[in-house]
Amino acid sequence: MSVRPAIAFARIAAPKKGTAVVLVAEGGGLAASAAAVDPEGQLARAFSVADFTGKLAASLDLVAPHGAACERVLALGVGKPDALDERSWSRIGGAAFAAAKKAQEVSILVDVEGVSPSPEDVAALALGVLLNSYVFDKYKTVKKDNGKATGPAKVTVLCANPAAAKRAFATAQAVADGVLLARDLVNEPANVLGTLEFAAKARELEALGVKVEILTEKEMRKLKMGALLGVAQGSIRPPRLVVMRWDGGKPKDKPVAFVGKGVVFDTGGVSIKPAGGMEDMKGDMGGAAAVTGLMHALAARKAKANVIGVIGLVENMPDGNAQRPGDIVTSMSGQTIEVINTDAEGRLVLGDALWYVNERFSPRFMVNLATLTGAIIVALGNEHAGLFSNDDELADRLLAAGRDTGEKLWRLPLGPEYDKMIDSKNADMKNTGGRYAGSITAAQFLQRFVKDTPWAHLDIAGTAMGSPSSEINQSWGSGFGVRLLDRLVRDHYEG
Ligand code: BES
Ligand code: MN
Ligand code: ZN
Repeated sequence: MSVRPAIAFARIAAPKKGTAVVLVAEGGGLAASAAAVDPEGQLARAFSVADFTGKLAASLDLVAPHGAACERVLALGVGKPDALDERSWSRIGGAAFAAAKKAQEVSILVDVEGVSPSPEDVAALALGVLLNSYVFDKYKTVKKDNGKATGPAKVTVLCANPAAAKRAFATAQAVADGVLLARDLVNEPANVLGTLEFAAKARELEALGVKVEILTEKEMRKLKMGALLGVAQGSIRPPRLVVMRWDGGKPKDKPVAFVGKGVVFDTGGVSIKPAGGMEDMKGDMGGAAAVTGLMHALAARKAKANVIGVIGLVENMPDGNAQRPGDIVTSMSGQTIEVINTDAEGRLVLGDALWYVNERFSPRFMVNLATLTGAIIVALGNEHAGLFSNDDELADRLLAAGRDTGEKLWRLPLGPEYDKMIDSKNADMKNTGGRYAGSITAAQFLQRFVKDTPWAHLDIAGTAMGSPSSEINQSWGSGFGVRLLDRLVRDHYEG
C-alpha cells in the first residue's frame, strides 16, 4: 500500500529546510511564531493578493519569503478559532498533507493566535495526516510521478508540548491503523479477498492479543444457521463466521458486541444485479471490514473494555446450487424465512450472526454495521449512515460519537407498521418488504433477531464506499465506522 509518513513531534521553532506549513485563522492572520518563517512580514501581502482569508482547509502555496531558512511556505486556513474542534484538527492535518504532496520534508507549525490546542488536538491533526496519506495503489505497476505524488516521507509536527502530543498520538495511531486496515479490506478485489482470505486477515489480529475463533461451515450447520448458509450455498467459497474478542476490561464486565456484514461479493445471486456498477459489490463486506478495523484499533490502543467482534463471511453467487426465490430457510433462532429476493442476502447473514452473539455472549449491547440497502443511499446519500435502534440511550450515544468524529449518523424510525410489511404468507417472515421504506423493513428484519438486547443497526451502504474525497479520505473504501465506534467505546464503556 502507500507508504505512511513517519510523524515526529518537536517544539515550536523555525523550520530550517523543506516545506513549512503555517496555520492561519480566519480573520486572525499569522501567529507570532510564524514570524520565524516570515521575518520581513511579506506573507500578509501575499495573502491579500491571493485573496486567502484562512477558511478551514484552504491553502496557499508560496516560495519562502526573504530571510526564511526553509524553501517553501504553505499557508493553511483553520477557520474561525472558536469553531476549532478535534474534527477540524484532523481536517487541518489532512489538508496540510494533501497540499504538501510534492514535498520531501514537511513541518507543520501548530500555532494559532488565541488558540491553545490540547495534546489530543495535535494528535487529531497527526491522525488527519495519516488518513490523508492513504492511497490504494498496490495494483498499479507504474506509479504516478514515479511514486513522488504519494507525499512526503516525514512530517514533523511543531507544537507547544511535543511529549504530551506524542503520547496522545499513540492512541490516534492505533485508530489510524484500524481505519486503514478497514480501507484495505474494502478496496481489495473479491478475487483476492474471498471468505477464507478475509478470515485469515482477521486471524492476524492475534498478534495484538485479540482472541480469534473461526467457525467453519460444518460448525455453523451444527448451530443451525440456515439463513446464513442459504446465502453461502451458491458459492464455491465456503462461509466463515469469525469471532474476535478483546478482553481489556474487568473479567466480570459484560462485553459490548459489534457485528459486521461480510459479503465478499454480492452478485445478487439468482435475483442477479444489473451489470452497471456491479464491481462495487466487492465492497459489500464494509461492515465486516469496519468491525475488523475497530478490533484492531481497540487492541492496539489497549482499550479497557471487553469487546466482541463478529463477522459473517459469505459470497452471494448464482449457481446450480444457489438458493432460489421462494425457498424457505430456517434460521438459528428457529424462525423461518421465505426468500423472496436472493439479493436481500445481508439480512439473512446478520440474522443468524446477531442471534448467535446474543445467545452466546449476552452482551450489554449489539451494534451491527452493514452495506445493507441501496435505499439508504437514496435517502441519505454519502453524508450520513442510517441509524436504527431499539434503545434511545445507545442511539443518542452513537449520534454524539458521529458528530464528534464526523462519521455522521441519521436516525430513522422502526415500528410495528413497518414490521408487518415483512410478514410472509408461507413462513414467519419474508426477506423483502416491497418497494416502500426499503431500509426500514431491512432493519425490522434484523430486529426480529435481537430480542430485548439494546441494539443498533448502521446501514453504511452510502458511507463505506464511494464517498466524495475529503481532507481525511481520498480512497474509495472509507473505513467508515472505525473512528465512530472507537469513540463510542472510549466515551462510555471504558474504565
Ligand atoms: N449489498 C446490497 C446493498 C447495496 C447497494 C450496498 C448499493 C451498496 C451499494 C444489498 O445486498 C442489496 O442488494 N439490497 C437490495 C435489497 C432489495 C433486494 C430488497 C437493494 O438495496 O436493492
Ligand atoms: Mn444484495
Ligand atoms: Zn449485499
